Amino acid sequence: MTKNFKNRWVDYLVFGLSLFLLFCLIFESYIELPRLVAWVGRWHPLLIHFPIVLLLICAFLGLMNKKIPKVLLTFSVLTALLTAISGFFLGQENSANGELLFWHQWLGGALALLAAVWYWLEGIQFDKPIFNKALQVILVGLIIFTGHYGGMVTHGEDFLALPIEKREAEIPENPLIYDDVVARILDKKCVSCHNPNKKKGELLMTSLDNLLAGGEVRNTVVPGNPQESEIIRRLHLPFEDEEHMPPEGKQPLDPNEIQILERWISLGASDTLRIQHLEPSEPLVDLINELMMPDPMEKWAKLPIVADSTLRRLSSDYVTIRRVAAGINAVSVNLYKSPTYRLAQLTSLQSIAEHIVQLDASGLPIGQEEMNFFASCPNLEWLEIDQTPITDVEMDTLKVLSKLKMLKVYNTPIGDQSIPVLKKMEALKQVYLWNTAMSVDALRDLQKEKPALFIDSGIDEELQASFVGSDSIPKN
Ligand code: HEC
Repeated sequence: MTKNFKNRWVDYLVFGLSLFLLFCLIFESYIELPRLVAWVGRWHPLLIHFPIVLLLICAFLGLMNKKIPKVLLTFSVLTALLTAISGFFLGQENSANGELLFWHQWLGGALALLAAVWYWLEGIQFDKPIFNKALQVILVGLIIFTGHYGGMVTHGEDFLALPIEKREAEIPENPLIYDDVVARILDKKCVSCHNPNKKKGELLMTSLDNLLAGGEVRNTVVPGNPQESEIIRRLHLPFEDEEHMPPEGKQPLDPNEIQILERWISLGASDTLRIQHLEPSEPLVDLINELMMPDPMEKWAKLPIVADSTLRRLSSDYVTIRRVAAGINAVSVNLYKSPTYRLAQLTSLQSIAEHIVQLDASGLPIGQEEMNFFASCPNLEWLEIDQTPITDVEMDTLKVLSKLKMLKVYNTPIGDQSIPVLKKMEALKQVYLWNTAMSVDALRDLQKEKPALFIDSGIDEELQASFVGSDSIPKN
């Protein structure tokens, strides 16, 4: 009796969860989740392991004509349903990859529901082996495909493709303002929630026609009139406003991007307008040109994260380490001249060598060991080793610095033998070399080979004074 009651209780649970899941899948675009519920979604990546393993065991036992323990099947089905539901919540919160997510969601939902059907069939002791086997085979297939789409959702579509360099295509010369600029901005920051699979606010942003048709309101975009356009109103709201787009927590548009949308609407929201059709004085021209300029920080975006605590721990009275900009993992390092300077102050930075893009060691008693350290900083762009005792022998170590743009080596004993090192530094743009043992001929030869290189060999007293003055150490 008690056993029966217990079983029934589980039956109701399976039934209830199945219904709930079905409801979520069908009414997905009408669902707005409270934050706490969204949090449940975070459990999805953990939960997912249970149903995969358990259902595969069940299916395996079934296909081998072994008896499947009831408790095992029950547990598999319950975890499958919970995983699908949590996954649904996660998808709501995290809406990138529309199409992939769509498939993952429906396959996963079908998988959990099929498992529930299996549970029900076992419950009524349905006994058609062929049918059961077919169900088990389909279940295994669904596990494989759901997992595959899930992997693509989390790791990107070409996760299993061979590694190739992937870059966002550049904006072409004379771009079409809608296709090449506006649509890209929307693709990047809006389409994840406004696409056929996820039509939030009833608004589609996958084509200009859709955008002009509007969503819940008709005035989403009013050509010629940004003030009346709902889209612009929402972009200008404070971030914490419920109606701000994109919603809080998503990457907002830059001011520049908002202005582009605004001007484009002012000019009639056309899809045939090109930048060359515009007067040079039209503000949109500058706005787009600005957008086309490569972001100076982008090249450092792939650096691994370095924690503030790490930077603080490595800093001391004589070593300052600063990020080159907030939120960027590239750092500049300044070593101050002190009587207690030791090599260890520098080598202790080995763990962040990759992050160092600027380094100032002016005036320090450095030698080969320090040069080895500099050479081990693959991203170094700016190096100051002026007023140090280094010679041609140690200079040779630096020839591996392929990204170095600026080098200060004035007031050092280096001579003509360092010229080939400088020639080898492909990225070098500026070099300061006064008061060295370099001959005029050698310098002339260097300039000839690298006409674009700015060489300061310092005949100009005033300039020299200003450089030493602005340096981190006092002139001695
Ligand atoms: C995280 C999901 C999400 C993202 C990303 C997102 N939106 Fe929305 N959007 C919604 C939801 C949900 C609604 C419906 C609720 C509401 O009206 O606030 C909505 C509604 C809208 C509406 C009103 C509907 C209408 O008929 O005009 C506009 C306009 C809009 N979004 C524009 C944008 C723009 C522009 C972006 C990109 C900058 C964007 N959205 C990005 C979720 C999103």
